[in-house]
Amino acid sequence: MKAGHMDDTGISGAPGLPSALLPDQLLLDRLLPSDPAFGARMREALAGAEQWLRPGADDALHPRIAALGGHLAEAGGKRLRPLLVLLGAEFGDPGAPGIGQAAAVAELVHLASLCHDDIMDGADTRRGRPSVHARWGERAAVLGGDWLLARAAQLAAGLGAAAVQLNARAAGRLVAGQLHELTGPGPGVDPVTHYFRVAAGKTAALLAMSLGIGAVQAGTPAGDTAALTEYGEQLGIAFQVADDLLDLRAPAADTGKERGRDLLAGVRSLPVLLARESADPADAELRALLAGGAVPAADAARALALFERSGVLTETEAVMHRRLDRARAALDALPDRPARRALFALCDHVALRAG
Ligand code: FPP
Ligand code: MG
Repeated sequence: MKAGHMDDTGISGAPGLPSALLPDQLLLDRLLPSDPAFGARMREALAGAEQWLRPGADDALHPRIAALGGHLAEAGGKRLRPLLVLLGAEFGDPGAPGIGQAAAVAELVHLASLCHDDIMDGADTRRGRPSVHARWGERAAVLGGDWLLARAAQLAAGLGAAAVQLNARAAGRLVAGQLHELTGPGPGVDPVTHYFRVAAGKTAALLAMSLGIGAVQAGTPAGDTAALTEYGEQLGIAFQVADDLLDLRAPAADTGKERGRDLLAGVRSLPVLLARESADPADAELRALLAGGAVPAADAARALALFERSGVLTETEAVMHRRLDRARAALDALPDRPARRALFALCDHVALRAG
């Protein structure tokens, strides 16, 4: 844990970390390098949305709730979901009231889900920093996640019934996705079909909701809102598949996660499922290594090498590309705006990262 001052809540403060408050500059710069004015406008709107993430004066219900603000500041994040809210709003009136609050709703639900997920996974770090439960203990961290959800609900209520509905539905889908992952496919269910069900709930639901809530808040026509939501659904699945590929390919320096971590944890990622189903005799050793679920640490390097040699990663990439194509196709009907170009660029960014 990074040395910092400890306040009476037992949580270290976040002095000198203003950069962590800002969204991932790199992501924004990569999306529309040719339109710096648009990038600057998005960056300013994202910085404005940050204020809604924090507990306000009326949230001084317990010192730990106030301290959660410091923890979130330290944790940072890409702020992808708030960015999607802002991009969705670009197809209506981006100056409409409540867009910043809508961006915060999406991020708060995301942060709540990660807070609870890290408890479930026993993960002591998140993006290289102590997770909430590593600092607070599990029972208090459950309540920290609950507060984040409560804050999201409060902000959504200020936006109106559509936002409340979108927020509630996305949170429900996240829970269902996580439960599907927890319980596994069950008898008679195809594991790959089950994988997509999990990814749709865990990842796609919130990306789709982010675009949808931004579009609705900006008064975007219903057809365009539906297209943006479909884009989010497809991008979300592609995102999850890309994440699976990164676990097998990317060095920790790029992802903040140790390479092969999912393999060691026995995660039923898409490449693992495809390898288990592979009829290629060349995959026999890999199939045997994966048969027991979690791969023992002593076998991890061998499993990674076998993945590199097998056709499974190419097959997984093809699945990702098909989803990205579907995401791009959803954008076809939308008017040509910088935001549309940024959404196309986001597809390229996902493909490039995982390729
Ligand atoms: C990360 O998965 C987890 C999620 C994307 C969703 C978690 C959802 C819940 C805990 C359900 C509760 C939801 C709410 C709204 C409170 P991962 O473990 O595969 O990825 P990681 O490596 O980033 O942890
Ligand atoms: Mg996790």
